[in-house]
Amino acid sequence: MTATGSDAETLRGRIAAELARTRARTTALTEAVDDADLLRQHSPLMSPLVWDLAHVGNQEELWLVRDVGGREPVRQDIDHLYDAFQQPRRDRPALPLLPPAEARVYLATVRDKVHDLLDRVRFTDRPLVADGFAFGMIVQHEQQHDETMLATHQLRSGPPALGAPPPPEPAVRVADEVLVPAGPFTMGTSTDPWALDNERPAHRVDLPGYAIDAAPVTNGRYREFIADGGYDDPRWWTGEGWAHRQAEGLTAPLHWRRDGDGWAYRRFGRWSPVRDDEPVVHVCFHEAQAYATWAGRRLPTEAEWEKAARWDPVTGRSRRYPWGDDDPTAEHANLGQRHLWPAPVGAYPAGASPLGVHQLIGDVWEWTSTTFRGYPGFTAFPYREYSEVFFGDGHRVLRGGSFGTDRAACRGTFRNWDYPIRRQIFSGFRCARDLRPDER
Ligand SMILES: [Fe+2]
Repeated sequence: MTATGSDAETLRGRIAAELARTRARTTALTEAVDDADLLRQHSPLMSPLVWDLAHVGNQEELWLVRDVGGREPVRQDIDHLYDAFQQPRRDRPALPLLPPAEARVYLATVRDKVHDLLDRVRFTDRPLVADGFAFGMIVQHEQQHDETMLATHQLRSGPPALGAPPPPEPAVRVADEVLVPAGPFTMGTSTDPWALDNERPAHRVDLPGYAIDAAPVTNGRYREFIADGGYDDPRWWTGEGWAHRQAEGLTAPLHWRRDGDGWAYRRFGRWSPVRDDEPVVHVCFHEAQAYATWAGRRLPTEAEWEKAARWDPVTGRSRRYPWGDDDPTAEHANLGQRHLWPAPVGAYPAGASPLGVHQLIGDVWEWTSTTFRGYPGFTAFPYREYSEVFFGDGHRVLRGGSFGTDRAACRGTFRNWDYPIRRQIFSGFRCARDLRPDER
């Protein structure tokens, strides 16, 4: 679709608002700590925050200023420093990175040029600019790095730097599980204008009936797995999972420690007792898989997750979100770093799917059993490095976004992926199972 006239003006306004809202988040995350902290590497898994900061500006320059705008480069000399493929994370602290003040000036210079471009750009049929796609891609990219920077904040030691009100308390009691009837549904999208290449195209997927947890697995349930010796029993783990558990000495989710008879967790520099009704977070795929096997269940496939989230049994249509097609609000889901941890189960009744599945969007990224692949008819866009180079057995798909995911980077179709050993991300899970013959 080509936006013209007042449509184009509306789109320009929306893009400007999203760019500003996103930059405010980036600024808050990077002004919460001093320069020494920005330059420090808090974990070999993460970049120094000042790398993320300038990388966000560099991608904006590459795609919007140079490609869409056809303008002269601002800082071509630094491209290689901020190329995520050329520079592994562990090596980034040793690079001659822009110091914080210089990085901020760079971002502001690029942003000025983008505003100038946005005033004049014609949203033609060229795929990169149709519906403002490149601007949407850059907004999502910056939001994704903001979530990464939030994970870095969770890993850093020292006095707390971030604050937020606690998430809402439970408002309803949520059932244990929901039965999803057999049948086809539409997975992915061909129409959401800012959807990324790996979410496309829409296609029909026919699934047998299954049951899926009505909420993510909670700390309380996960503690039962620990108390039952789940971490010490190789029966529950895959061979690969057990080897990883042994090598890393895993005994509990990341950021947990024993606290008398119970457990405490550290959240952004503050210790507190583990709360049983919150979704468990900071577990890797192997831990999720072992819990599910211990519980006599399994992880859902990606298709099962999406059908539970989007399929409307009345119309047979797939919605953009569990609650409908409207963008998320604070009533629907715990998104956008509005709170700094997952909300207890039952806190978002307005966000439930038609089948009664809760908290699919927000709170915790949910591991699925599916390895990351292109959908039938996949076409890489705008470049192979966005998704295609990550396809294969090495990465598992995560769905639904976390409390640290912005609404601009979260849809019912949105796909995230990571190595099955990763747990510095805001990752949890829910379980599923096949139906018994009497349930079919
Ligand atoms: Fe990036």
